[in-house]
Amino acid sequence: MIIIRTIPELRTHLASFKHPAFVPTMGNLHDGHLALVRQSKPLGDVVVVSIFVNRLQFLPHEDFDTYPRTWEADCAALEAAGCDVVFAPSEKELYPEPQGFTIQPPSEIANILEGHFRPGFFVGVCTVVMKLFACVGPRVALFGKKDYQQFMVIRRMVRQFALPIEITGGTTLRAADGLALSSRNNYLKPADRLEAVQLSKTLNTMAQALRGGHTDILALEQEAMASLAARGWHPDYLAVRRAVDLQVPGAAEIATLAKSQGLVVLGAARIGSTRLIDNLEV
Ligand code: PAF
Repeated sequence: MIIIRTIPELRTHLASFKHPAFVPTMGNLHDGHLALVRQSKPLGDVVVVSIFVNRLQFLPHEDFDTYPRTWEADCAALEAAGCDVVFAPSEKELYPEPQGFTIQPPSEIANILEGHFRPGFFVGVCTVVMKLFACVGPRVALFGKKDYQQFMVIRRMVRQFALPIEITGGTTLRAADGLALSSRNNYLKPADRLEAVQLSKTLNTMAQALRGGHTDILALEQEAMASLAARGWHPDYLAVRRAVDLQVPGAAEIATLAKSQGLVVLGAARIGSTRLIDNLEV
């Protein structure tokens, strides 16, 4: 495994490969990232993982400065998982001048859910991903489905810009109690860690209700928000959406969609000072 820090060096190194597989990350890697690396192995002739904490996707009050940087452990884990190239540019390398050109994703998919509560988040994500794609030139890129909306936004961006890149999703990995693996789980205090599983439990309850024929999604969402709030959470949203485009399903289609994996339930909520997100495809 080699570590590359500049764009010219990366391009020179990758010139001899035809089919790079790419996993973009912000480091602080967990088994979910490593599963993506393993999944990418048969999909390309070289596996490239980027580690770059992207300032553009953090709001001023968010955790950019404190976002865990775990370089040594990340490199050791990537090597063991079969990564060939770690691309770890500095901020100066990736953003040598203020990034005036940005990607503005369409509001109907990017200003809802995460984008509503973190304005500008998907502009930052799309801009860095587009730039990383330009550096790596991947044929396939893998994104964890825990960030379901991010996966959808990137997939649509690639389609609309006709980029010759296949976007593949990775299944969400969970701890033994059901908590979705996330870099931000490290922030949880012990008591909050015990409570954290309630987010996935609540999403499960919603999913089961939908599978059982429940069609009043507004009531379902309100009950879910109230049940988490009663346990001391601060929920941003618990929402039932169409899996294909994240829009609110029409009343007439809910039952059919629930029977054909056409729905997704998504949630974001804060426990203590940690904001967690999760989702389940129904
Ligand atoms: O999911 C992430 O870790 C980030 O949003 C990504 C895709 C690496 C862009 O910075």
